[in-house]
Amino acid sequence: MKVQETARILANDWVSEEYFKIRLTCSSDYKDAVPGQFVTLRLPGQEEPLLRRPFSIHRLLTAGENALQMEILYRVVGGFTRRLSRQAPEGLLDMLGPVGHGFTVSSHEQPVVLAAGGIGVAPLVFLAERLKHAGTDMSLVTIFLGGLTKTDILCDEIFSGQGAKVSVATEDGTAGVKGLVTDPLNHWLEKNSPAMIYACGPHAMLKAVGAIAKSRDIPCEVSIETLMACGLGVCMGCAVSAGDTEKGYRHVCKDGPVFDAKVLV
Ligand SMILES: Cc1cc2nc3c(=O)[nH]c(=O)nc-3n(C[C@H](O)[C@H](O)[C@H](O)COP(=O)(O)OP(=O)(O)OC[C@H]3O[C@@H](n4cnc5c(N)ncnc54)[C@H](O)[C@@H]3O)c2cc1C
Ligand code: FES
Repeated sequence: MKVQETARILANDWVSEEYFKIRLTCSSDYKDAVPGQFVTLRLPGQEEPLLRRPFSIHRLLTAGENALQMEILYRVVGGFTRRLSRQAPEGLLDMLGPVGHGFTVSSHEQPVVLAAGGIGVAPLVFLAERLKHAGTDMSLVTIFLGGLTKTDILCDEIFSGQGAKVSVATEDGTAGVKGLVTDPLNHWLEKNSPAMIYACGPHAMLKAVGAIAKSRDIPCEVSIETLMACGLGVCMGCAVSAGDTEKGYRHVCKDGPVFDAKVLV
């Protein structure tokens, strides 16, 4: 069930370069939220932007009996995210969620891969927490983080602290191996056979990861970030082509944002 509420900002901290993390009060209804689900935000009383903006749930924190807080990790890319980065604690946000279908969470007994490109890491922290909670031994989890440069590599210490292995790739070689995130992933897959690959990041990366998974017959789920308009399944703002449906497309906000990677390849 979706809840529309006025969330109070508890913290809004700069992380690095154009990345920020905001912590908000949220309804206890989020206790059943699934990693990959997202919220849509507006600044109350402001006409701009007209449309709510979607952000993945990065973390849910318990704050006393029946009270929850939510963290959102975001990158400043335009008008709304710039205004969001200037909001101070005690400010209010109009929040609607949880929206969409998330990742399949289960207790894995074989290795598992999480692959992120840039801000695509945001929902994967929540996913790693829920995999651990479901009983997955975190030493079986390997996280592949990719970005253009070292400041695009986020949350590596959170994952290491959870007991997962972390592999980093940057296109300019300023952190980890030089290249695309799919380079160390391909290398790792020569010796390992994971039960599942979960991925979130730019479309081209998700297509590449999906193609790798398909060629090796590995189940793979991807979280797709598209531009969105209504966020409720009533316009075509978020349609992605999907050959497996009669219509030839799917709505990311309603049918996703998490899909079987076969939708993309
Ligand atoms: C399901 C979902 C989950 C998301 N989760 C996060 C998250 O956890 N953290 C985060 O920082 N962002 C996330 N995004 C992207 C976020 O919604 C956009 O960055 C935000 O709406 C931009 O608003 P703006 O007004 O600041 O920028 P705008 O002025 O709207 O856009 C600025 C520039 O960014 C581009 N852009 C905007 N949205 C996207 C997008 N989705 N994909 C690629 N390019 C885009 C525009 O084309 C434009 O060039 C998510 C998007 C979706 C669909
Ligand atoms: S954004 Fe309108 S249908 Fe998805």
